[in-house]
Amino acid sequence: MYITDDIKYIGVNDHELDLFEGQYVVENGMAYNSYVIMDEKVAVFDTVDAGFTEEWLGNLAGALEGRKPDYLIVQHMEPDHSANIRVFLETYKEAKIVSSAKAFKMMRNFFGTDFDDRKIEIKDGETFSLGKHELHFVAAPMVHWPEVMMTYDATDKVLFSADAFGKFGALDVDEDWACEARRYYFGIVGKFGGQVQKVLEKAAGLDIQIICPLHGPVLDKDLGYYLDLYNTWSSYGVESEGIMIAYTSVYGNTKKAVELLADKLREKGCENVVVNDLARDDMAEVVEDAFRYGTIVLATTTYNGEIFPFMREFIDHLTERNFQNRFIGLMENGSWAPMAAKTMKEKLEGCKNLTFANTVVRINSALNDDSRQQIEDLAAELCQGPAEPEPEVKSSKGFVCTICGYVYEGDVLPEDFTCPLCRQGADVFEPVE
Ligand code: FEO
Repeated sequence: MYITDDIKYIGVNDHELDLFEGQYVVENGMAYNSYVIMDEKVAVFDTVDAGFTEEWLGNLAGALEGRKPDYLIVQHMEPDHSANIRVFLETYKEAKIVSSAKAFKMMRNFFGTDFDDRKIEIKDGETFSLGKHELHFVAAPMVHWPEVMMTYDATDKVLFSADAFGKFGALDVDEDWACEARRYYFGIVGKFGGQVQKVLEKAAGLDIQIICPLHGPVLDKDLGYYLDLYNTWSSYGVESEGIMIAYTSVYGNTKKAVELLADKLREKGCENVVVNDLARDDMAEVVEDAFRYGTIVLATTTYNGEIFPFMREFIDHLTERNFQNRFIGLMENGSWAPMAAKTMKEKLEGCKNLTFANTVVRINSALNDDSRQQIEDLAAELCQGPAEPEPEVKSSKGFVCTICGYVYEGDVLPEDFTCPLCRQGADVFEPVE
């Protein structure tokens, strides 16, 4: 793979992995990317997963053509990229390791040492020269761990973007970028939209011709397309026209109601209706769809005085990823005590800017004339869209974490406050301007 005359690809493809990060199905495998810049000094960007040590060292040796690396630049400490730091330092005994203070702290956790005699600590905004290539370090906390540092090579105009702009899928499989990049983004980084927005703001000031992520293909054409998608995703905007229905069904009656709703929506002119069975479809795909479309319908049964477990899990995935800005329809089924709609609404209570359709479909065991009419009414309401929301009155009071960007809303920050994202104390917070 050609990147530039000086930048070589030395990553690996993983087709053995069953679940990425222990939960995501990766039918087309995974790529762990790694790069080398060949200059007066030679810099390697990140290592790869522990299962690919020999292959990666072989790729590195091939790219070096007899030279020795001077630096290992560690942008991210998650083990899919950091597992071979020790092996690298043992193989290349003259090389130094370049990384952020937080990453060195994590190295102590992972390896029992921060390689003190070989470390070069760098900060956000600092530059580092390899000779012809000048590297600019860009802190990207919580994209998607707090220590993450991206690197901009001002000479070849390349952004080494760590996990950002990555996707599931090995590089020897040809597949659409957006589908697996979206599933990756919302699965792994989705909670941290505010932090991604901050990085995009920094990136807007750079002349970027090529993006080299730690997963997925190197991006060197139509960069506006990828940046626009990242802007939509990280601002929780609506990417695609359409309505997504997520349901669970125990004996098929809720499924019949959902199918009727989908038919009614199509009859009324909504061409793109996406229906997902939470018990059978890939949960990460459904989560991705919930953030992709502007109108979402949730349909489930009362179960053990609560809601069916797959729906409970699904709503948890949404709320922990800052789900917001959506129009929601609710459908419930209960044979003697229907309460699923109320429970779902309560679970979504903390989400910002959700508008609920007035019509709630209530099924008592199976469809009847009443519930069929409610489905008709809900379809009409969903096709019409939400009423104009009341303008949100924003409070200007609050404190922002200078490490990860988390905002604490309130007039006074408690002295013993700990950032829920990066676990730093109150001393790193500043008042919101
Ligand atoms: Fe690809 Fe956050 O590790």
